[in-house]
Amino acid sequence: MLITINGSPRQVDPSRSPTLLAALRDQLGLTGPKLGCDHGECGACTVRLDGDLVYACLTLTAACENAQVQTVEGLAEGNTLAPLQQAFITHDAAQCGYCTPGQLLAAAALLERNPHPTDAEIRTAMSGNLCRCGTYPKIINAIRAVSDAGTAAP
Ligand code: FES
Ligand code: FES
Repeated sequence: MLITINGSPRQVDPSRSPTLLAALRDQLGLTGPKLGCDHGECGACTVRLDGDLVYACLTLTAACENAQVQTVEGLAEGNTLAPLQQAFITHDAAQCGYCTPGQLLAAAALLERNPHPTDAEIRTAMSGNLCRCGTYPKIINAIRAVSDAGTAAP
């Protein structure tokens, strides 16, 4: 079956990888989405499915036929980091980095629907993505910086 991943149609065999997370990592080599809790509690596996944030560990591959999926690998433009990626570096918002791909996609979705969120709105929007390293204040600073800069694409 076909799934469009980061703008390119890719063939995926759902019988080999029942979950979207497994299909992305094991069949397509996209290791940005991470396996954390494996049951919808941590957000490490967050990707976008037809624009919506989903936990790829809970998403059936078979349900994604002809869908558009974006992973963290699809955020940069070639060798140019997306403003959010650059802001996470500038504001030191990743420690071990395990949660960062999911955090970036959640932040991108937030700024697309609400380019100027309050800190409370940022905290609410990011509440589905846990960080064992406790980088939450720095993540908020990074998102706030991109919002304040008024960058067109997060
Ligand atoms: S690995 Fe999917 S929510 Fe934790
Ligand atoms: S930076 Fe380590 S889990 Fe978030």
